[in-house]
Amino acid sequence: MEVSFLLNGAPVRTTAGPSETLLDWLREVRRLTGTKEGCAEGDCGACTVMLTDAAGSRAVNACILFLPQLHGKAVRTVEGIAGPEGALHPVQAALVDHHASQCGFCTPGIVVSLAVAHLAGRRDHDDVLAGNLCRCTGYAPIVRAAEAAAGAPVPEWMQHDARALSAAGTAEGGAEEAADTPPAPVARPRTADALARWCLAHPEGTLVAGATDVALRVTKELCPLGPVAFIAGIDELARIEIGATEVRIGAAVTIAALRRAMAPLHPGLAELLRRYGSEQVRAAATIGGNIANGSPIGDGAPALVALGARLHLRRGPERRTLALEDFFLAYRRQDRRPGEFVEAVSFPRQPDRLRCYKLSKRFDQDISSVCGCFSVAVEEGRVAAARIGFGGMAGVPTRARAVEAALLGRPWTEATVAAAMPAFEADFAPISDMRASAGYRMAAARAMLRRCLLEDMGVTVDVLEVRP
Ligand SMILES: Cc1cc2nc3c(=O)[nH]c(=O)nc-3n(C[C@H](O)[C@H](O)[C@H](O)COP(=O)(O)OP(=O)(O)OC[C@H]3O[C@@H](n4cnc5c(N)ncnc54)[C@H](O)[C@@H]3O)c2cc1C
Ligand code: FES
Ligand code: FES
Repeated sequence: MEVSFLLNGAPVRTTAGPSETLLDWLREVRRLTGTKEGCAEGDCGACTVMLTDAAGSRAVNACILFLPQLHGKAVRTVEGIAGPEGALHPVQAALVDHHASQCGFCTPGIVVSLAVAHLAGRRDHDDVLAGNLCRCTGYAPIVRAAEAAAGAPVPEWMQHDARALSAAGTAEGGAEEAADTPPAPVARPRTADALARWCLAHPEGTLVAGATDVALRVTKELCPLGPVAFIAGIDELARIEIGATEVRIGAAVTIAALRRAMAPLHPGLAELLRRYGSEQVRAAATIGGNIANGSPIGDGAPALVALGARLHLRRGPERRTLALEDFFLAYRRQDRRPGEFVEAVSFPRQPDRLRCYKLSKRFDQDISSVCGCFSVAVEEGRVAAARIGFGGMAGVPTRARAVEAALLGRPWTEATVAAAMPAFEADFAPISDMRASAGYRMAAARAMLRRCLLEDMGVTVDVLEVRP
């Protein structure tokens, strides 16, 4: 497939296989070896590069990004973060001044993450660095360097990519396939209609949205992908519509964009998404991919289930919607027919009463052991409505119907919560794995319900979020 993009300010036009990663291409073809390979699965940030398009600049992991995803965009590697004459970027100079690098393996990724944050004027250094693993220096000098660089002006060359892309007009998408031509096995459809045609022609094909799951099939399982459609460039799938009665989120909306949109509506969900992967993962991963992969420990589904979400599926011209919880049939098996794809997820506009609790071994960049999301409406002291979604408690994201029933109509009190505890046994039989034992999961889920009540009562139970 033809791919053209800017690399450190210079145009590149190349032919790429659908599963060729940017990291391999940078290191092996372009010999730009500043970008490192640590884990090849999006966890360590050693491969961080800056990606710019009409939506702005962001840090992404090159190891889980396929070359065709770059079409019409701009990439800046650590080699392009320093000035054209080798002048250090302010974050590079500050890292030197603050002795913020020892073995240096993490340093290129940290430089890129900090330079992207510096460009955006951000000072939430802990969030910015959550996806950059440093094993030997320790984060204190790195954060001190980030703080020292924060006031410095943005170097002129860091603004080049956005200017060059806007001067060149919108991203090159290539000609849209005519409706009567059979869609090519590797495609970059630009409309939902074109995607629908592609899915009918290649019902067993792979859709690549952010690739944060699919790329691991390539880098870890060494699986060929077969027919592939890259869908992140379909504008109509990347929209968030906040109407008077409904919120509709396109399947290709990234977790980062969703987090921004949810902050004023459901801050608990926005906070949950702050702990979803890392900055780099959130910039690429989409809510459609998160739902479609059907992971029992995904963080999107429990919150959306608690909000009463419906999933919008499309196969050719046919569309259907279903309650999100009904989409998940069994472990990694969803109610999705060959040739069908997720178009959007929607939920009713509602007063915010969503409380989300993610329990993981690390605060940042970790998969949930248990994720519990609660929407409990109380009228005149009694539970008028309750929707509860859980991840990590079964082979699929699950709605806690028995617990909901045990609360409904009863006073919202410690006694009701205590009486509802046995209902967890009816809803869940969690497994033990490396993240948590079954007993721990059950105890944690019950504690989350109690925490929800206590927070409603105004009791401060913010024990996890230890802040300086
Ligand atoms: C380092 C790391 C950390 C992570 N941390 C978290 C975390 O904290 N919480 C969490 O929930 N997840 C986490 N994930 C998992 C992952 O980011 C999510 O599942 C992500 O949302 C997938 O979205 P994507 O766009 O990258 O999907 P892709 O990888 O592009 O696709 C995933 C699957 O969905 C299919 N698909 C994509 N879009 C559609 C569509 N519109 N219709 C039908 N099928 C579709 C693909 O074919 C594929 O099977 C993490 C992943 C990594 C690598
Ligand atoms: S190599 Fe570890 S995130 Fe890419
Ligand atoms: S300096 Fe060695 S990993 Fe960070």
